Amino acid sequence: MSAHPAIHHPHSEGEYEDLLSLWSDLESALSVLLARPLQVQDFPGKVRQFDTWLQDLVAHDIDAALYLMFQHASTSTVGYSASHALVCGTLCHIMALELRLPQRERDSLVRAALTMNIGMTALQDELAEQRERPTAAQQEAIKSHPEESMLLLERLFISDALWLDVVGQHHASITERVPLAGQDPEDRLTRILGTIDRYAAMISPRKSRAGRSATDSVRAIVGQEVDQRDEVSYTLVRSIGLCPPGTFVKLENGDTAIVLRRSEKANHPLVASLLDRSGSHHVQPTLYQTASGKPRIQSALARSAVSLELNHRTMVRLGLYAAQHSAGLRGLVTGPGAL
Ligand SMILES: [Fe+2]
Repeated sequence: MSAHPAIHHPHSEGEYEDLLSLWSDLESALSVLLARPLQVQDFPGKVRQFDTWLQDLVAHDIDAALYLMFQHASTSTVGYSASHALVCGTLCHIMALELRLPQRERDSLVRAALTMNIGMTALQDELAEQRERPTAAQQEAIKSHPEESMLLLERLFISDALWLDVVGQHHASITERVPLAGQDPEDRLTRILGTIDRYAAMISPRKSRAGRSATDSVRAIVGQEVDQRDEVSYTLVRSIGLCPPGTFVKLENGDTAIVLRRSEKANHPLVASLLDRSGSHHVQPTLYQTASGKPRIQSALARSAVSLELNHRTMVRLGLYAAQHSAGLRGLVTGPGAL
């Protein structure tokens, strides 16, 4: 188990350079935890520690966290299970803030997200690499994994009933017709986790298919038009956006750009244009505030549609620099010392 690296709040732009390695470290540590949970000393304490770590990283700067998370999820070298757990945990944390969930529910939700598939970690990694349909034995294991995960968590001394219940029913379909506030905590959290789980699974590339774009993933979940019918999807789109930081977009001038930060206007992020319409690299990335006019975003692009090596440190710093020098984005920069 790797040690918990020191987390600093950034007091200068330079410290953002460390964020990327902190994400990788968290992902690696989580991958060990999920792969060999019975060999971990004080499993509940480790999960709490990783949760704190995750919150610190997001508190630094939500946009940088989303950027690194989405970039990382699509290029990650650790197994799919750990990468998926981290994406779900982070998105559930952000959703809990948006939905103003009570602290207790927030904790159960995020920890359930990090551990929901712990009963089939190896199989989940295997399936992500597999091109063929699951075998009958694999299908059987997939079917029983929520229950298996719950039983394993009990063996690992998890005693939070809400966390356990949500893991145990995380693939159950919960009605979306009832307002979230009117549901039992168990159903409310299962509903949120279910939407996030489907969204994160669709966005990630796996051997059997390339990942979809974030926009397609949201639309596949909520239908062609995102409206207020379902509070969870609506909140996901409003807070994270159809084109979240770290995803690629096609601009209406034909350029290929990467989303750096959200702006105050939902779904009108700050983007850095990287390629022109013929696919040639720009000498330097051009920044566009899509909220203030042209060029607009034409469509989202799946990661697999773009073959580009990016310097994430430069991109995160570029986004931060632009945010610091733009009134429209300023209000969204969070974390002490970020301004
Ligand atoms: Fe699952």
